[in-house]
Order: sequence, then C-alpha cells, then structure tokens
Amino acid sequence: MAIRKVGVIGAGLMGHGIAQVAAQGGCDVVVVEEKQEFLDKGLKRIDGSLAKLAEKAKEKGQAFDAAAVRGRISGTLDKKSLADADLVIEAIVEDLEVKKKLFQELGAICKKDAIFASNTSSFPIAEMAAASGRADRFVGLHFFNPVQLMKLVEVIRTDKTNEDVLAQARAFGEACGKTPITCKDTPGFVVNRLLVPYMAEAMKLAERGEASIPDIDVAMKLGCGFPMGPFELTDYVGLDTTLSILRGWVKRYPNEPAFRVPVLLEQKVKEGKLGRKTGQGFYTWQGDKRV
Ligand code: CAA
Ligand code: NAD
Repeated sequence: MAIRKVGVIGAGLMGHGIAQVAAQGGCDVVVVEEKQEFLDKGLKRIDGSLAKLAEKAKEKGQAFDAAAVRGRISGTLDKKSLADADLVIEAIVEDLEVKKKLFQELGAICKKDAIFASNTSSFPIAEMAAASGRADRFVGLHFFNPVQLMKLVEVIRTDKTNEDVLAQARAFGEACGKTPITCKDTPGFVVNRLLVPYMAEAMKLAERGEASIPDIDVAMKLGCGFPMGPFELTDYVGLDTTLSILRGWVKRYPNEPAFRVPVLLEQKVKEGKLGRKTGQGFYTWQGDKRV
C-alpha cells in the first residue's frame, strides 16, 4: 500500500477511532484538532480503546502490541504538520461550509499527490472535492460508529475520482481491518440513505404517540434482530449529527417526505440533549453505558 502517513482532522467520536484503526493498520498517524482539550480527550479515548483490545487479545492468547500502535499516533493543533501526509481524512463537524473551507486550506498545505477523503455522513463529496482544488484525488471514506468495532467502510467515488486513487482508498480501508464497498456520490450513500430515514420515522411514530420510545427500541431489537433500537442508535450517533444530516437533505430535497425533520429531534437538540456524548439524549448515559 502506497499510503504510509495519514492525517486525521477531528478527534471526536469518529476521528479518534479512524486514527486508531489506521495506526492498527501500520500507518503513521497525525491527528489534528482545533483545541487542545478536544485533542487530549480524543487521545485518551484511543488509550482506553487500545487497553480494552489488549485485554481481550490477552484473554484469547493472541498478540496485540497496543504500545506500538499508540507509538504511531501523534496529535497537534497545526494543520501544516500534514504537508507530507499521503492521505488526509476529515472527520470534523457535519457542516458543509466549514468542511469546504478546511479542504481549501488543505489544498494549499498538502503535497500535490496526497489523497483527500471526507468521512461526511451526508454531504456531496463532489462539492468538497471541488473546494480542495484536486477533485481527481478525492474520495469519501465513510466509517461507522464505533469505528473500532464496525467492519464496513463505504468508499465513495465522484465523476472525477481517479481509478488509482479509488484503488488506494479501498486498500487503505482493508488495511484498517474493514470491508470496503464502493458507491456513487448520492445523499447518504448506501447505509445512511436507508438508516437515517428509518431513525427519523421511529421519532415520528413516537411523536404521534403510537408506541413509547423504549417499546419501539425493544420492537426493532427483538423483531428484527438489530443490535440497537433506533433511539438508542440515535443517542449513539449524536442527535446533533442526525439533525445536521436531515436539515442538509431537507434544504436540497424539500419534496422528499422521508427527510422531514422530526419535532422531537429538534426539541432535544435545542435542550442540549445530544445523546451519549452529553450524558442525555432519548436516554440517560453514564460514560458508555445506558442508565
Ligand atoms: N474499542 C474497543 N473495544 C470496544 C469499544 C471500542 N471503541 N467499544 C466497545 N468495545 C468492547 C466492549 O468493551 C465489549 O467488550 P467485552 O466483550 O469485553 O465486554 C465489546 O467491545 C462489545 O461491546 P458491548 O458490550 O457494548 O457489546 P455489543 O455486543 O452490544 O456491541 C456494538 C456493541 C458493536 C456497538 C453493537 O451494539 C452495534 O453493532 N450497535 C449498532 C451500531 C451501529 O449501527 N452503528 C452504525 C451507526 S450509523 C453510522 O455510524 C453512520 C453515520 O454516518 C451516522
Ligand atoms: P464530533 O462532534 O464527535 O467530533 C468532531 C470534532 O471535530 C470535534 O472534536 C471538534 O473539535 C473537531 N473540529 C471541528 N472543526 C474542526 C476544524 N476546523 N479543525 C480541526 N478539528 C475540528 O463529531 P463526529 O460524530 O465524530 O462526526 C464527525 C464527522 O463524521 C461528521 O461529518 C459526521 O457526520 C461523520 N460521521 C459521524 C458518525 C457518528 O455516528 N457520529 C458516523 C459516521 C460519520
């Protein structure tokens, strides 16, 4: 694989996990954050996750060198550290204008043959690619939450993505221990086009008082074998991120009823109840556990 040095921008829910699996895949990783406290929090989460994986490996009598993985990861607040990166993956807030501005900046900082990727849940890859000034070397690399455990990565190509770049992005996904699928640059790609309207529909069902939130979750877990119900999953993803996805789609596709924003979701976000990350969403959370 030609990709040796990887930059990950954003050390939140997704960025910390992407940095970790890239390092587990043998890459040197530089994590870039806006603020020191968020960088520290992201690196601490990586330490916690690596400790868990090491403990599990020990139980199974398998080798897992957590210290070597951690040694390949460094953190900084300075984007210029990405000047010689082979691949830069963006995992910042779900706001298209902020992402476009970032890629414009990165286009001027990074070496000409570096590959750029966005982990966006919902925005058109082509718009970020155009802002970067290197549309042929741009893909979507959509990982799933929690990155350390979920086995899929969607590799999104635009009309301008170079074939070799696509092949390198797929090989990188495999090196991270994921199964890549390739898809076109459409709203939500494959998973979120199906999953987010399902989550929104569950909220509308609860709004109409047709069943309670815990009962809807139990129904989907026991009736369909899903590991989490739609409300538990929205808490897991983040209510703010889910709202940003739906709002972005409603703006672009005002006539698509599946994208209508549930009032319940707007209310919760207004109250600062963003899910597991704030300790309160549809449920109450203590760390990673539902109370
Ligand atoms: N790193 C390392 N280990 C971890 C970990 C992490 N980040 N998170 C959990 N673990 C460990 C746990 O400690 C646990 O270890 P033990 O077996 O020793 O207890 C083990 O992994 C399994 O974790 P859980 O006990 O929580 O067990 P689970 O069987 O409930 O699995 C889950 C958890 C994989 C998250 C499962 O509930 C699941 O698949 N949920 C659905 C997740 C999903 O749908 N994600 C996609 C969201 S949508 C998205 O990501 C796209 C978008 O753009 C919004
Ligand atoms: P998050 O809020 O947990 O983390 C975002 C991080 O980016 C924060 O730590 C923030 O400080 C940092 N940041 C914001 N602007 C920055 C900038 N200009 N430079 C450097 N750092 C910056 O969000 P998240 O849930 O990790 O989502 C990140 C991206 O991944 C979004 O595009 C989201 O749609 C996508 N995504 C989210 C999930 C999910 O389940 N949450 C799943 C797949 C994809």
